[in-house]
Amino acid sequence: MTSGADWGARVGAIWAAEWERTERAFAHIAKVLDEAIISIAPENGRAADVGCGVGSTALALAAARPGLCVTGLDLAAPLAAIARSRAALLARHTLGRDDGDRGVDFLVGDAAALLPTLAPLDLIVSRHGVMFFDAPVTSFTSMARAARPGAPLVFSCFRTREENDWAAALDAALGVSPPCTGAYAPGPFGLADRALTENVLAAAGWVDATATRHDVRYVVGAGDDPIADALAFFRRIGPAAAVLAAAAPDERAAIERRIEAALAPRIRDGAVAFTAAIWVWVARAGEPS
Ligand SMILES: C[S@@+](CC[C@H](N)C(=O)[O-])C[C@H]1O[C@@H](n2cnc3c(N)ncnc32)[C@H](O)[C@@H]1O
Repeated sequence: MTSGADWGARVGAIWAAEWERTERAFAHIAKVLDEAIISIAPENGRAADVGCGVGSTALALAAARPGLCVTGLDLAAPLAAIARSRAALLARHTLGRDDGDRGVDFLVGDAAALLPTLAPLDLIVSRHGVMFFDAPVTSFTSMARAARPGAPLVFSCFRTREENDWAAALDAALGVSPPCTGAYAPGPFGLADRALTENVLAAAGWVDATATRHDVRYVVGAGDDPIADALAFFRRIGPAAAVLAAAAPDERAAIERRIEAALAPRIRDGAVAFTAAIWVWVARAGEPS
């Protein structure tokens, strides 16, 4: 379980240190999500990227829709700081501007609290940033209230850990069987259950919700030693990180050997790759009740 409080502290700092590896892993998720977003994004108005991390989705949207004013929201200040420098770098390279203004900005805080300050929004997007709410109906309601009636919400999230072979491989290497309660728990698989997410969206005032399955490449290691690179990634990001950090040295070494053994068969073309099994959800804000 990873909650908002974790993101605002330890986990956010780790993601900031590892952002280039997470970007590589999420590159194919970005491709399908960005296509879905661009196919529905208005030319003008205001959009928010919830749980924007280092800003990739917000930046892609701002580049594709120069008339749209895009704001990324994230609990983790170190991630928002990287997002701001990426925006400034892009502005310098593509627009020759030094003021960092690409029609995109980034705010630090809880999305549910910040969204009302941006209303009315014409589009809300998120790449894997909406599965960590402590009270999902409350947070999705805040999103719906901040959106103009009819405005689209487009987000991605993981499907079940069993469908995500990288997570299943780690679970097997760690020797854990994740709880299968069917109840919501904030974390990477918090919105894996389609019916649960459908109910959350409906209760929060979102209508016409559709979910599309995608199975995309998930690269976790590359370079001179792809297995060492993948192990370095999993030591810090994802379900193995906490277990490895808590393990005694000899136990940690044994777990790492098992993880390496699970990674070895996945090397193709110089990279360790798995499949990310995801949903891309699209819904529209209902009329206020
Ligand atoms: C899995 S990361 C995804 C980050 C980014 N969207 C990406 O695709 O790289 C989840 C992000 O959601 C943010 N987050 C979680 N709960 C949040 C909340 N209540 N309000 C704002 N951001 C939140 C975290 O800080 C983290 O950056």
